[in-house]
Amino acid sequence: MPITPFTDKLPTVFSLLFLTQILVACGGSSGGSDSAVGSPAPGSDDEPIAEDAAFNTAVGFNVVREPGARLPVTETDPEITEAEFALGLPEPIVQVPDGVDTSTNTAPFFENLQNLTVNAGDIVEVVYLPRDGEGELPGMFPEKLPQGSTFDDNFDGSKTFRWQPLQMDVGILKFTVTALDPANSLYRTSQPILIKVELPADLSTIPNVAPTLDEVIPHTVKVNDPVVFELKGIDLNGTVPTLEIPELPAGATFNQHPRFEEVFVLKFTPASVGELSFDVLARDSVDNTLTSVESVSLTVLAEDAFERPGLALKTLGANRNVKMGFAALQSFYHRPDGAIYASTAAREYDIVTPENSMKMDYLNPEPGRYQFAATDNLVAFANANDMTVHGHPLVWYRQLPEWVASSAVSTRETHMREYITRVMGRYADSVPIWDVVNEPINSDGTLRESVWFEAMGAGYIDIAMQHARDQSAEATLLINEFDIGFAGPKFDGLLTLIDGLQARGVPLDGIGFQLHLFTSYDQFEELRANFAAVASRNLDIYITELDVSLSGGAGTAEQAEVYRQIVDICLQQERCRAIQTWGLTDQYSFRSIFDPLLFDRAYQAKPAYSSVQEALAGQ
Ligand code: XIL
Repeated sequence: MPITPFTDKLPTVFSLLFLTQILVACGGSSGGSDSAVGSPAPGSDDEPIAEDAAFNTAVGFNVVREPGARLPVTETDPEITEAEFALGLPEPIVQVPDGVDTSTNTAPFFENLQNLTVNAGDIVEVVYLPRDGEGELPGMFPEKLPQGSTFDDNFDGSKTFRWQPLQMDVGILKFTVTALDPANSLYRTSQPILIKVELPADLSTIPNVAPTLDEVIPHTVKVNDPVVFELKGIDLNGTVPTLEIPELPAGATFNQHPRFEEVFVLKFTPASVGELSFDVLARDSVDNTLTSVESVSLTVLAEDAFERPGLALKTLGANRNVKMGFAALQSFYHRPDGAIYASTAAREYDIVTPENSMKMDYLNPEPGRYQFAATDNLVAFANANDMTVHGHPLVWYRQLPEWVASSAVSTRETHMREYITRVMGRYADSVPIWDVVNEPINSDGTLRESVWFEAMGAGYIDIAMQHARDQSAEATLLINEFDIGFAGPKFDGLLTLIDGLQARGVPLDGIGFQLHLFTSYDQFEELRANFAAVASRNLDIYITELDVSLSGGAGTAEQAEVYRQIVDICLQQERCRAIQTWGLTDQYSFRSIFDPLLFDRAYQAKPAYSSVQEALAGQ
């Protein structure tokens, strides 16, 4: 699909041009914009197609995939321009924590650093020796080491960065080292250097290195469940390695991915319990004698290892008129443990939110280009398991595609309306609940500046809610917000917003309380009062993104107690309709370092699971 930038000056000419290009590119798809400044609607070339079962673990529903060979758009660091490089060494960034007197304690610093221009194949060595005005020796750490580089201690206060950039690294890279003040480690100086990597005239001077396998994390699966591994080869010379498995597990298939040539997919069904491991060999495509081998391992547990006493959460929830749910990891059926992920979710839950696949940057990464497969699959999974799908989010200030973030202000209302129309339209029969506006409020209670606010002012919320209602008379329409589980200006701001919307007759059915908490959370009475304030406005309450991160040395027992109280408060509030955790297992939580969920990395129920069960059962 062609990408044509829209400008304020030439809307008609551009959209006409665009339409012709689309028709040519799609061979007469239904694509076309419903406004002079709009972006093309999805066409038939955006329609997902069936995926071969060899590539996924799905049981009970059929997986579809994106049709074309186009790569997904992923977030990348902003490019550094030649002009920025020419400005010389970037200024250091100094962080001064409260209580530091900079007149008596000067910030740590580096000397003798400069930007570098090197050829691919050269070996770069930079010695970092941080200094401190008070004569002590500062500590230091690198920010993001480029692939294949090292940062080694010289045991004299200095460290050496060593890197041999290759073809993949051509361009300008920023490498940052942070020095820590010896008296206060939060007093820091971050010093970037820019490294420009060019191709040498004689390409044969660049060494050909052995390819490697991209990192594979440990997984736990259930015996007799299908397992898939998406294995990705990496060659820093920029070529595509071939992957081989010398001893394929019994009955396994091993196929190159239909869209990503560097990915190979292994599928097999482990038939016995235990630790399983196999070698994967990556072979260079230029010199086929150049290889590397890495071992991939897997823990296979017996069926009864996943049995849990008591009734499923959804059964207990149904008795109390509350839906129980989770946010689904995008494409869980492409993960090694996808089958146990799916069966755990299907047993426990009757409502699900896509964690990422309905966000605008993913769903509509470029004008006229849509990626529906992940959401279509989630809907199919939900239908196969009697789950309600909770759509999330239609209008948000984050995870926006670049084309929207940089669009002309005058076009944004059209983009917002089109997006709502298209997404709600496609999922009209499958998604009855929507987070229409996500996170609109600042911590001081004012409305957040966003691309939408910038274009439409406060009215963007009215427009979005009304437009969503125009798409569906029956859907439940929510505003979803974080940090509203306690009293304060943010919650007051939410009430002001609600009161204004209601006074203006703007449709709103409920509030989503995210509730990303820590074990130190204890504002239960404030939460109860906030629920009551929302309910008194004739609105429903959805707990949309509950998780309780372990903090301050607390353990899973304290975590269980916070979960219990939250469930109790929901049950005591008759307008509380659903409790959804943000994720299913600590393995894939967006806060996985804090183990915040009900299931651990091996899909074992944690104490919090039992406390939620007990609370739902009224015990
Ligand atoms: C998070 C996802 O969990 C991450 O995987 C993603 O990288 C960023 O977004 N509030 C929201 C959610 O409304 O959409 C966010 O989800 C978490 C905070």
